[in-house]
Amino acid sequence: MTENAHMGVIGLGPMGAGLTFNFADKGYLSVVFDPWPEARTRFAEKFADELDERVQITESLAAFVAALPAPRRILLMVKAGEPVDALLVELYPLLSPGDLVCDGGNAHPRDTDRRSRDAENRNLGFFGLGISGGELGARHGPSLMAGGTPELFASVAPALNAIAAKHDGFPCCSHFGPGGTGHFVKMVHNGIEYAIMQLIGEAFLLLRDGGGLSATQIADVFSAWNGGRLNAYLFGITTDILRREDDLAEGALIDKILDQAREKGTGQWTVRLALEFGVPVPTLSEAVSARHISRYGSERTQAKAVLPAPAPIEVADVNRFIDDLEGALCASVLISYAQGLHLITAAKPDGDGWVARPELAARTWQAGCVIRAAFLEKIIAAYDTHPDLANLMLAPGLTDDWVASLPGLRASLGRAIERGIPVPALASALSYYDGFRNTRLWSSLIQAQRDCFGAHTYERTDRDGTFHTEWLKPDA
Ligand code: 6PG
Repeated sequence: MTENAHMGVIGLGPMGAGLTFNFADKGYLSVVFDPWPEARTRFAEKFADELDERVQITESLAAFVAALPAPRRILLMVKAGEPVDALLVELYPLLSPGDLVCDGGNAHPRDTDRRSRDAENRNLGFFGLGISGGELGARHGPSLMAGGTPELFASVAPALNAIAAKHDGFPCCSHFGPGGTGHFVKMVHNGIEYAIMQLIGEAFLLLRDGGGLSATQIADVFSAWNGGRLNAYLFGITTDILRREDDLAEGALIDKILDQAREKGTGQWTVRLALEFGVPVPTLSEAVSARHISRYGSERTQAKAVLPAPAPIEVADVNRFIDDLEGALCASVLISYAQGLHLITAAKPDGDGWVARPELAARTWQAGCVIRAAFLEKIIAAYDTHPDLANLMLAPGLTDDWVASLPGLRASLGRAIERGIPVPALASALSYYDGFRNTRLWSSLIQAQRDCFGAHTYERTDRDGTFHTEWLKPDA
C-alpha cells in the first residue's frame, strides 16, 4: 500500500493543534476539524502565522471526511469519555471500509476495547493511541503508545514514527497489543506520573518544613539532583517551577498557589484496575489519595487548630539531610516503576487482554513523555537480561541501587515521622520494599482471624490441604 500523505485531526485544543503542525512538519498534509466553531476560530487566529498549504481547516465533519483520500487516517483529539462516542456516531456513517480512526485522548482501556469491537463490526479500523508529553511534546515529539491489531498499527506507523520523540535516534512509538492495550500502558504511565509527582512533592515539603529551605534553595537542590542519578523530566520542571517569581505579588509563585491538587482521572483508573486485578500499587494509590486529602481545604484548616503537632526539631546537618533525601527519591521512584510495570505485565481476568512488554514500555518512555528519566536505562537492562522477570524488585542488577539508596529512604522517613511531616508515598514505597523481601509477614494471623470468625479455612506450611480450627472452643 502506498503511504497516504494525509493525516486528519479532529479536535483543535493544545494537543490536537501541536500534533497537526508536527505532522505538517514531517511532510503530512493535515486536514483538521473541531466540532466547536469557536475552537476552529481560535486555532485559525492563534496559528495565523504558521498556517499554510500544509494545513487545511474544514468547516464541517462531512467536508473534513471529503478532504481526506481513502483509506482515511483520522486522529481524534477530543475530550475523553462521552464526547468520543458522540463524535463516532456522526463520523462512522461518513467513512468507508478500510478507514482508520485512532483515539489519541486518555481513554479508559475498556472503552477502547468496546470501540475497537464496534469499529470492526463496521469494517472500519479503530485503535487507542496513548500520547504523552503535553502541548510541547505534541508539537515537537510525543511518546506514543498504540493498541489495536498489528496491521492497523502498521498502516499508520510511518506517520506516527515520524512525529514521535526520538531516543538515540529511535522513535518512542510502540505497538503494545490488541484493543485498548496502548491506552492501558498510557494509563499506567499516568499512575507512575502521579507517584513521581507526589514523591517530588513530599521531598519539597521535607526540604521546606524540615530543612527550612526557601523555594530558591530547594530549586538548587532539585537542579543538582537532576544533574545526577535523578535526571528526569519531572525533576527538571520542578527546578524551573520553584525558581519562578510571582508576577502579581512579591516572592516565589509556588508560595501563592492554592494547596489543593486536581485530577482528570487516569490515576484513579490505574489504582481501581490494580485493585480489581489484585496487583499491589500502594505508592500509586497513595499519590491519588494524597490529591484527595489535599482537597479537604476547610477541614485541614480546622484540624490545624486542634490537632497537636510534634515539637520542632532542628536539622543538624543539612547536607546529610539532602543526600539522604536523594537516596529516598532514587529508591521510591524505582519502586513506583516496579509497581506500575507489574500492573502492565500481570495476567488479567477474562475479557481484559492488556498484557504489555515492560521493557518496551520503558523504551517508549525514554523520550517525549512526562515520566522520561535517565534511569529507565537500568530498568530496560534489567528486563533485557532477565526477560521473564516477574517484578522489577527481583532484578539482580538493581541490588547496588538498593544498597546505595535504601539507607537514605529509611533515614528520611525517620526524620519526616519525628517532625510530623506527611510522606505517604515515600512511606508506602519503603513498606512495599520491606514487605516484598519478607517471607513471614502478618498474613498467617489474618488467615487465622478469618478462620476464627468465619470458618474461612487456612493452609499450612508443613502439609497440603485446607484446615479449620475451632479457635474459640471453651477448653482451647
Ligand atoms: C501526559 C499527561 C497527560 C495528563 C496530565 C494531567 O502524559 O502528557 O499524563 O496525559 O492528562 O498529566 O493529568 P491529571 O489532570 O490527571 O493530573
